[in-house]
Amino acid sequence: MSDRADARRLLVRDLAQLATPAGTDAPLRGHALGDIEVVRNAYVLCEEGRITASGPMRDLAAGVGAGDGALEELDGRGLCALPGLVDCHTHACFAGDRVDEFELRATGAGYEELHAAGGGILATVRATRSAGEAGLAQAVGRHREWMRRAGTTTFEAKSGYGLDEETELASLRAIRAAGGIPTWLGAHAVPPEFDDADAYLDFALAEVLPQAARLAEAADVFLETGAFNVDQARRYLAACRTSGLALRLHGDQFTEQGAIPLAIEVGARSVDHLEATSEEGVRLLAGSEVLGVLLPASALFLDRPMPPARALVEAGAAIALATDFNPGSAFCESLGLVSSLAVTQLHLTPGEALSACTVNAARVLGLAAELGRLAPGYRADLTLLDAPDWRYLSYHLGADLVAAVVEAGEVTWTRGSSEPKTGALG
Ligand code: NIG
Ligand code: FE
Repeated sequence: MSDRADARRLLVRDLAQLATPAGTDAPLRGHALGDIEVVRNAYVLCEEGRITASGPMRDLAAGVGAGDGALEELDGRGLCALPGLVDCHTHACFAGDRVDEFELRATGAGYEELHAAGGGILATVRATRSAGEAGLAQAVGRHREWMRRAGTTTFEAKSGYGLDEETELASLRAIRAAGGIPTWLGAHAVPPEFDDADAYLDFALAEVLPQAARLAEAADVFLETGAFNVDQARRYLAACRTSGLALRLHGDQFTEQGAIPLAIEVGARSVDHLEATSEEGVRLLAGSEVLGVLLPASALFLDRPMPPARALVEAGAAIALATDFNPGSAFCESLGLVSSLAVTQLHLTPGEALSACTVNAARVLGLAAELGRLAPGYRADLTLLDAPDWRYLSYHLGADLVAAVVEAGEVTWTRGSSEPKTGALG
């Protein structure tokens, strides 16, 4: 950090409300998931990229503006501050779109049918391979801006639309360059130049993994009929673990193929989707350390059943929420909309939804010690809603509510202005 950044101080004052998951644990389960601490007429003080104090305005220490570091202030009147939203599952590194397929699906074509016919994921693979690294960096950067405007301050993004050495590695670099946390989804689909999944995995593990392991934080696999089976997923994940990557799985999206038992066996951080999870799957996941990442925008977009969120929470499983942002199954970057779906379709409370896309999502990324709460010591990432009550995040369906975004104590976006809404105190 430069000296200027070291001296950076930001006071967000006169907030209608500050809302944060209570306590210090992660992940949150059971009753604790919905436990939100709300402070009315509040402030948050950010110094050197961290939150150093927060609470009611009446407790704001006199003389805060008198320090020697430059203090900027942000007027929070009429706004609610939430911890910066964390999107722990996206496929933001892609070129092109699938709007034609979207129209075809409206008139009866199935998502899996399009995939089997060489469309779907493989259509995006063709577009992504021809984009070049600069084109990919531009695409992830654009998608990152969309996410920021929707209130997301931290995002994970997967490769998986290259499926060759050059494009997979370029994808991971482009994600990092855009400020994302890269996951190597080397086992997303079998590309057309390979006859079968085993032959493709021989290549991917020998040629791509050694370099991917240096660029990515985690590895992910699509365990599903028509993609990779449980033995192939086990082989892929075991090799990735040996190379030092954390593990994730796409599982139980269309059919139950043993993703939850495998996730537990290999010590994965998460198993994501779960639209097809049975009662036994719920029981197993609840008795484990693996988080279930629920993606209701994807279920909605594909008109599929919603995952058994309520049963998971009641059974004691740790869940997170994410967008699954991608061009085929969830062209949606809004965690606000996902929170609305979580309440209306998954029957979570607004508080459970908030914890699921802050603290618990941070936990999926291994970052819960520094992200996901508005409390001293946490990174100063804030999402400010133009709303009288923090529950508008899920209540105001499809609304454009985000008024401003603060990342590491710096205002990175404000609505309706190209300039940050800050000024000198006094
Ligand atoms: O999580 N299911 C696998 N992968 C993505 C969809 C990718 C695509 O359709 O392009 C998902 O839904
Ligand atoms: Fe996904």
